[in-house]
Amino acid sequence: MINTTSKYQVAGLDLPHIDSDNRLRRILTATLPNQSENSVHPQYDYWDWEFFNLHQVEIFQQASESEQSAILRLLNRGLLTESYFIEKAGVGYMAKMVMLAETIEERMLYAMFTADEATHLSQISDFLPESAQTQSDDPFLRLLAEVVESADKTVLLFVLQVVLEGWGLSHYRRLAKSCHHPALAELFSSFLDAEARHHGTGTTLFSQTLVTADSKTTILDVLTKFLFMIQVGPQSVLSAIEQIKGHLTRSQKIQILEQLDTETHSGTRLQILRSLMQKTTADVIVQTLETQGSFTPLPPNQCV
Ligand SMILES: [Fe+2]
Ligand SMILES: [Fe+2]
Repeated sequence: MINTTSKYQVAGLDLPHIDSDNRLRRILTATLPNQSENSVHPQYDYWDWEFFNLHQVEIFQQASESEQSAILRLLNRGLLTESYFIEKAGVGYMAKMVMLAETIEERMLYAMFTADEATHLSQISDFLPESAQTQSDDPFLRLLAEVVESADKTVLLFVLQVVLEGWGLSHYRRLAKSCHHPALAELFSSFLDAEARHHGTGTTLFSQTLVTADSKTTILDVLTKFLFMIQVGPQSVLSAIEQIKGHLTRSQKIQILEQLDTETHSGTRLQILRSLMQKTTADVIVQTLETQGSFTPLPPNQCV
């Protein structure tokens, strides 16, 4: 669990929620735009097995119906929890950028973006029970929380807004398109315009920035770690299967990754990430990542 009180204050990943009868909550509800009137009962069947490519996996096909739905529930819940924490970190990040702004227009934009992320956070929370909202030990979220702490604005702009917000945009678009729950699909679609503005602002500000050698080193270090998490394929699917079916041997894991077609899965994602970086002035960064093989998906036997 991340200890945000000491190390990761900006991301605030484990900032607690207040009680539902607290007066602050009523003021917040009145302040947030477009509050949904119906409360949602999380079912965790928003995305089906084809979304996760599980229809290609033998051990999943042979599992009982209740095991299959348990695996899907874990994966659905994982996707929503990840979005919840990304939006939560987004609120702190945008507020930090308000303080780092160099013009009043930039400051105003980041203040509006802080409100966007707060709205997204509240809307996502409607689809997650509170028990899923308090902690996370996901390596990606830990990396995100570390970067958000950085005092280097160039690093923040490039890693968080050019790369991760751009990535989030295509991720949310995909989640919206394949979601079986109309209200949730609609919600993810409604995030797209705001996320595009967050990404566009990052790209614009980054293009006006001179990248120092120190910033370049930090950017490369963080992106190498992030890209590696993509290179090793859909590990969350492996872990969901293992949680329900019990221990998997190394060769079983390799077989599952082969059936999931991990290299195509990761390859597509790595190409999206490369094209996001290429749209900027960061040629040297893209070249270095390319040379060290960071955009190449790993074969199944190197993913486990
Ligand atoms: Fe957002
Ligand atoms: Fe955003």
